[in-house]
Amino acid sequence: MKLAVVGGGSTYTPELIDGFARLRDTLPIGELVLIDPAADRLDLVGGLARRIFARQGHPGRITTTSDLDAGVAGADAVLLQLRVGGQAARLRDETWPLECGCVGQETTGAGGLAKALRTVPVVLDIAERIRRASPDAWIIDFTNPVGIVTRALLGAGHRAIGLCNVAIGFQRKFARLLDVAPAEVHLEHVGLNHLTWERGVRLGGPEGPDALPGLLAGHAEAIAADLRLPRALLDRLGVVPSYYLRYFYTHDEVVRELATKPSRAAEVAEMEKRLLEMYGDPALDEKPELLARRGGAFYSEAAVDLAAALLRGGGSPYQVVNTYNNGTLPFLADDAVIEVQARVDTSGAVPLAVPALEPLYAGLVAQVTAYEDLALEAALRGGRDRVFAALLAHPLIGQFESAEALTDKLIAHNREHLAWA
Ligand code: G6P
Ligand code: MN
Repeated sequence: MKLAVVGGGSTYTPELIDGFARLRDTLPIGELVLIDPAADRLDLVGGLARRIFARQGHPGRITTTSDLDAGVAGADAVLLQLRVGGQAARLRDETWPLECGCVGQETTGAGGLAKALRTVPVVLDIAERIRRASPDAWIIDFTNPVGIVTRALLGAGHRAIGLCNVAIGFQRKFARLLDVAPAEVHLEHVGLNHLTWERGVRLGGPEGPDALPGLLAGHAEAIAADLRLPRALLDRLGVVPSYYLRYFYTHDEVVRELATKPSRAAEVAEMEKRLLEMYGDPALDEKPELLARRGGAFYSEAAVDLAAALLRGGGSPYQVVNTYNNGTLPFLADDAVIEVQARVDTSGAVPLAVPALEPLYAGLVAQVTAYEDLALEAALRGGRDRVFAALLAHPLIGQFESAEALTDKLIAHNREHLAWA
């Protein structure tokens, strides 16, 4: 089995390699190709990746290349984990929205739109080249904003599924609190990527008894603290929102906080520098502790499970993925991309039925889906008016003056990445 990772020079890659090594029985990789235009990073990351495989006795071969077409040729699955413009572009996404009193975040609000506009054309070009080199390959997309990027890929007819670590993070956390094996925990996870709620925590199978009321009764304080959301909100809702709902439910507080502390992009850039130094140490043969301070915990395990289900019909049959709605949430178009629990096998992912979504959540999901539609239009076709429309539609923006000002800032800060600007 051959896997390719586009963006393989990412400092995140050792997390992925560690998962591939530990879970080699679930996903027996014969060849792994790390693809990245940054040859220097690829050397450092590739070296460590080989040492991790060697230490854990993984028989697979790891190669590195900057040649995308050669790298993906013959791959059974290709993981996309790239960041157009690097942490420097992310830093800008997190900064200029604050000048309008709006949240500055890499996937949510105006910063998220900027990321979508930079990313969609690049990912579509890569996907076309994957299709040419390896027409049957599955594309597993970790590239943010995952909802919009997945929709772009599916719209262009690619065999793509979007993946995020938020759900697997909850699964692991709830399993620990309940003292059961993670595979026993089936989340009633519903919404859009980075806009989800856990409405049930079923044990043993998707129809098993619901442990969520008990979890909230016993651990609401700890769960809320972890999400940095008010405990009273969890008590009131009776569901567990994802961390990203912070930007909605406590928007003004977050804006005040972001104005006074260093951005996440700056923190991450600092960590990346240290990580790359560590990766260059030939004595290092495991993922360093520092990597755990990044947001991507467990993403390797989600990737292994999904690739195993798609390529061999193995792994867990039930997984939370981003895929076409196809009637699952009846108030959205069939071709909206949602993030829900699905049944995954070698023919792809089919969402499990979702009980009717309460207006409290459905309203936000519908509005953000409309924003995502408009964002994709802007990413595919360009133009100031389309950028403006997407910003005006976003529930965190919505006002004429802010949308106008943010449109100009977005274009000014991203001109080098926008072919039409
Ligand atoms: C979580 C999200 C990812 C995001 C990451 C950011 O894992 O699900 O989509 O990329 O956090 O983490 P970072 O360490 O880069 O802030
Ligand atoms: Mn994510």
